[in-house]
Amino acid sequence: MNPEEFLDAYLKDRRKIVEEALQRYLPDEDTLPQDLHTAVHYSVFAGGKRIRPILCLAAHEACGGDLAAAMPTACALEFIHTYSLIHDDLPAMDNDDLRRGKPTCHKAFGEATAILAGDALLTEAFVLLSRSEKIPTPAERRLAVIQEIAAAAGLAGMVGGQALDIGAEKVKPDFRGLQEIHRRKTGALLTASVKAGAILAGAGEQKISALAKFGHHVGMAFQIADDVLNIEGDAELMGKSTGSDAAMGKVTYPSLLGLDAAKTNLAQHVEQAIDSIDAFDARALPLRVIARYIMDRKM
Ligand code: IPE
Ligand code: IPE
Ligand code: MG
Ligand code: MG
Repeated sequence: MNPEEFLDAYLKDRRKIVEEALQRYLPDEDTLPQDLHTAVHYSVFAGGKRIRPILCLAAHEACGGDLAAAMPTACALEFIHTYSLIHDDLPAMDNDDLRRGKPTCHKAFGEATAILAGDALLTEAFVLLSRSEKIPTPAERRLAVIQEIAAAAGLAGMVGGQALDIGAEKVKPDFRGLQEIHRRKTGALLTASVKAGAILAGAGEQKISALAKFGHHVGMAFQIADDVLNIEGDAELMGKSTGSDAAMGKVTYPSLLGLDAAKTNLAQHVEQAIDSIDAFDARALPLRVIARYIMDRKM
């Protein structure tokens, strides 16, 4: 099997088991109040790439963990990510009409339900993270995972990054400022996904810090790729609008560095990510191919 075939089969398999678990962990969509539950299902099952849960599972396996033990954590990460997208698309934020190939949550269900659907997913993520599992994981590891994910989603991470991102529409950041925005709004949760997988598997300090470095570079690469795709990508394939960064005057890697230099920077982050996990054995192969996929992805 060549690397592309391996990647395709791997992502397909992992997406399938993540979809099944997400279904298990959410109440049925006709649960009352029905509008809210339908909106939650609508956004969660609109067809995301599931990259955060997949990274969590891949890091877990690279550290010798059993997939099933990491599944609630993997799904909690997808809940938090989906909440962030629902709120990011709101009129008060990016005011977008299209997400994952469908009308955004607020377009389909109204703003109040969209806000609540986001609130619900964020909160349910912590129900999932803290509930007892079939495969018991030591309490201290689970506590460390909750701490890691909460910090990545909160003020020092994603929410703080979103605030900086909005502020940057008025006062243009320099390159360092932009790196900080990327690191917090996107990099933090991706890094937490990888670290959480490792912590749950009981990895030692050295492995966790190597994987944190991997996650950092993958996170930066992921957001640069998002910036590049906003210029060059196919809106239909991606299921969200393109050209919006330039239209809103957003400072992005391509707008600060130029498109070619942004792509070079992206490739450097991918190489640095792969170098960070040099010491891992063949069980880290999925992490290595995912890092390249981040750069080559078309959606
Ligand atoms: C989009 O995330 C927002 C960013 C953080 C760049 P994804 O590209 O992972 O979106 P889905 O989950 O596949 O829809
Ligand atoms: C998405 O960010 C939300 C978070 C990273 C929390 P963007 O606004 O940059 O991404 P898209 O283009 O809407 O997916
Ligand atoms: Mg945004
Ligand atoms: Mg947006």
